[in-house]
Amino acid sequence: MNDTLLIIGACGQIGTELTLKLREKYGEKNIIATDIREGSKELMHSGIFEILNATDEEAIAIIVEKYQITQVYLMAAMLSVTAEKLPNKAWNLNINSLLYILNLAKDKKIKKVFWPSSIAVFGHSTPKHNTPQETITEPTTVYGISKLAGERWCAYYQDKYDVDVKSIRYPGIISWKANPGGGTTDYAIEIFHKALKEKKYDCFLSPETRLPMMYMDDAIKATIELMSTKKTTNFTSYNISAIDFTPQEIATEIQKHIPNFNINYKPDFRQKIADSWPSSVDDTKAKKDWNWTHEFDLKIMTIEMLKNLKTRFNSSLENV
Ligand code: SER
Repeated sequence: MNDTLLIIGACGQIGTELTLKLREKYGEKNIIATDIREGSKELMHSGIFEILNATDEEAIAIIVEKYQITQVYLMAAMLSVTAEKLPNKAWNLNINSLLYILNLAKDKKIKKVFWPSSIAVFGHSTPKHNTPQETITEPTTVYGISKLAGERWCAYYQDKYDVDVKSIRYPGIISWKANPGGGTTDYAIEIFHKALKEKKYDCFLSPETRLPMMYMDDAIKATIELMSTKKTTNFTSYNISAIDFTPQEIATEIQKHIPNFNINYKPDFRQKIADSWPSSVDDTKAKKDWNWTHEFDLKIMTIEMLKNLKTRFNSSLENV
């Protein structure tokens, strides 16, 4: 590969696994990992790492110049729950970092950008089931507002400046390597941790709250596949779908492996966030444009999560 990729937010939940996969695929010297703080041992030992604040425009420009970066994956973001608590900080991080990167692409300092959007761009007025690619987007969360604005900025830069930017509306992402932080869909990860460690979980969403979800391996596959397709002419942040389930359904699946696991429901302010999002999304356009398909269903994902987390808890990796 002739490209050099910069990952901003490489130590986060998605950034960690994306960086590891890209290094495996394209060679570690071509993948520059950056984050505001150091990450897991596995990540830190797998290639080049630099401390980088995604809201520091000058620092980003220096790194891009230093490593002759050609593609940027901007994974740093403040998720839905944290963003409600820190609205200004969330807006600054989620939007200004994007504008810095889009400007680098506009000025031809870099060639290509990946920027993640989210199911949070949808709101109460959006059709809830099988949510179309193009539909009403009236988000009610700070996170959703920033993601929708980001989508429109990406479309603007593509249209006006011919910037090559690609994007996916990630559903809730389930993974075991790096802990998530500050998301509403994170209950579906916490539940595995608690099931293994305590055999019980107090869920902050109600039993019937259905949300679109995806196992990390599928999310990484989607990201790399989309970035490998040729330039898309009309900007869109793609709906991608894999599985959808409720807290009750995932608890039942876990109980097949841990029969004495108990779940209690104590919905809090996060219920309102979840209620504003779709229960499933229609990804026909992603399937058509770049042959997107998912591999992991609820059953296989549950087996993978329990197996890998058990190994992680039993190993020294847990202490990093
Ligand atoms: N996982 C995100 C959140 O819950 C949604 O994209 O905030």
